[in-house]
Amino acid sequence: MNIIVAKGAGFCFGVNRAANIVMDEAKKGTKVQTYGPLIHNPEYIQRLSEIGVTSANSPEEIESKTIVTRTHGITRELEIELAKKNLTVVDATCPFVKKVQKLAEDYTKRGYEVIILGEENHPEIISVKSYAPLAHVVNSTDDVPPLDKNNNILFISQTTQSTDKYHKIGSFLLKTYPNVETINTICGATENNQNEVSEMAKEVDLMIIIGGKESSNTSRLREVAEKFVKTHHILNARELQKEWFANVGTVGIAAGASTPDFSIEEVKKYIEKFNDDDDK
Ligand code: F3S
Repeated sequence: MNIIVAKGAGFCFGVNRAANIVMDEAKKGTKVQTYGPLIHNPEYIQRLSEIGVTSANSPEEIESKTIVTRTHGITRELEIELAKKNLTVVDATCPFVKKVQKLAEDYTKRGYEVIILGEENHPEIISVKSYAPLAHVVNSTDDVPPLDKNNNILFISQTTQSTDKYHKIGSFLLKTYPNVETINTICGATENNQNEVSEMAKEVDLMIIIGGKESSNTSRLREVAEKFVKTHHILNARELQKEWFANVGTVGIAAGASTPDFSIEEVKKYIEKFNDDDDK
């Protein structure tokens, strides 16, 4: 069985940056917490807790002098609340998420109706909506509310959404309303990974997508892959099942932007081991 690993598999720029920020803070010797899980990957969060970095899920749970904010961003209200405390707040929000926050805020101030492709309860959208409380969050053209044709409309996206969906809803808005501006805020890592996975899925007999089950960008990779081929989304190697690989000539492995290299390596080794066992 051939095993192909996607080139883009693993930490993206924003996650790498956040991981380095946390490590640098942890090395200073003071207790460090992240606000909420730093990224949506329980395996990595477990590794952080092994070096003493835990997460606080509310201001009351903060018991450290240093708090690192998550890649998905926090709300404006929480930012103000943390600033009032006697704390060092280190901002690890991905700069691409910051850009979405800023666009939503600026265009709202300019009187635009802001429409965001995203998941209402995702931390990134919760943070973005705190900058633009009147923004509409949509997941399909059906979710777009009836809007005043005289209004200016901005259409943006959560950074980790499906590019296909973004273009579909964008075209619908452009056809339906006269004053629409679209700014594609899906980040490069998400877009490249989706493109790579869609090409890979056409060539292989099975796709394995590794990443947290709550990770938006990982779930999008699963959706892209399963359009073409049988696909399993797993968190780690322990979720692999040997039967999946019966009669598989080539397996493709891809991983979300918050999946650490050690998880990818481990999955690859397990699959190689299934292969070796079959050859005996
Ligand atoms: Fe940032 Fe995109 Fe990664 S928004 S955290 S570079 S998936």
